[in-house]
Amino acid sequence: MAPPGVVPATTRIVPASVMKQASEFSDLPAKFTKSVGERPVVAHNDYCKDIPVISLKGIDSECEYPRIVAEIGQACEEWGIFQIVDHGISSDLMKRMMENTLGFFDLPLEEKLKYSTKPGGFPVGYASGSHRTDDDILDWRELMVHRCLPNSVRETDYNIWPEKPEEYRKTLAEYSDKIDLLVTSLLGVISESLGLPTDYIKNAVGGEEAEQKILFNYYPQCPQPDLTLGLRSHTDYGTITVLQQDDVGGLQAYKEDQDKWVTVEPIAGAFVINLGDQIQILSNARYCSVEHQAVVNSNQTRLSLVTFANPNHNSQMGPAPEILSETNPAKYRSYTFKDYLPICFAHKTKKHYDALVI
Ligand code: OGA
Ligand code: NI
Repeated sequence: MAPPGVVPATTRIVPASVMKQASEFSDLPAKFTKSVGERPVVAHNDYCKDIPVISLKGIDSECEYPRIVAEIGQACEEWGIFQIVDHGISSDLMKRMMENTLGFFDLPLEEKLKYSTKPGGFPVGYASGSHRTDDDILDWRELMVHRCLPNSVRETDYNIWPEKPEEYRKTLAEYSDKIDLLVTSLLGVISESLGLPTDYIKNAVGGEEAEQKILFNYYPQCPQPDLTLGLRSHTDYGTITVLQQDDVGGLQAYKEDQDKWVTVEPIAGAFVINLGDQIQILSNARYCSVEHQAVVNSNQTRLSLVTFANPNHNSQMGPAPEILSETNPAKYRSYTFKDYLPICFAHKTKKHYDALVI
């Protein structure tokens, strides 16, 4: 990124403490009020029943694998977002992750600010609204970001991960490793669904040097949820995103062919998977990097744990040559992943990949 510079901690205290007092005031502060066209149109708990829910049971068996490839391929083509169950990550680990993360956000503000994003460098750490400095209108959330993989980066950052709650660091490292295995299997399934060798995408993103970022979003209850968003509409810039949410609801995806927003139903024990820009580009737009956002509500705080699987910054990305032909010519030019990030932060369009269209 030329990382978007970072707001000094003192100015970021304001939105976090404002949100904390939300129950005491009835009007949304202007700093959070979105323009009319950006406001939510579908309720946080008006769930869409059509988003695919796919079981990964038997993913290691030859007879189930083709079913999983077919179902995920279809979900990638039609939705760009789906849920998975029977994925092998224990409910105990998912619960401990939620508890530790909530434990962190429940700490006094002064304690959380010890982990504030530092100016310069990659934006990791605690912030409210977003990590950007050029936001006129803020999102109604607190956030915490960690770089978890590759291992060399985890080692560098480990000592800036929170020390409270006590189990936070250990649980995050365990979660990061388990999600990475899941991501490897899913990238294998997606590769196969595109007619590519199983390890194609994993190799394309740098193999064991691929990058993983884990973000926690904490959305406090909000006095006027209809006027703002917890997280503005965007696409994720990596390969796939693995999201664990609590039972409150608020994640919405834009179903482009039907021109409507749909709310993803929280399912206990499930992960939501959404495709990012790199898969749209690699698949030459057969699959879509789905636009999505988070809405908030006036009754409950909501928590989501979001793992971004990203290429290594030196990976060469672009449409997979193996799927291109005379009738399917490349729609995007190729690039080094690190050159993609400045495009994303330039803010010119929500659809960053448009900048690469041939
Ligand atoms: C994200 C994201 C949605 C949510 O963090 O990129 O899309 O429900 N989060 O928190
Ligand atoms: Ni996202």
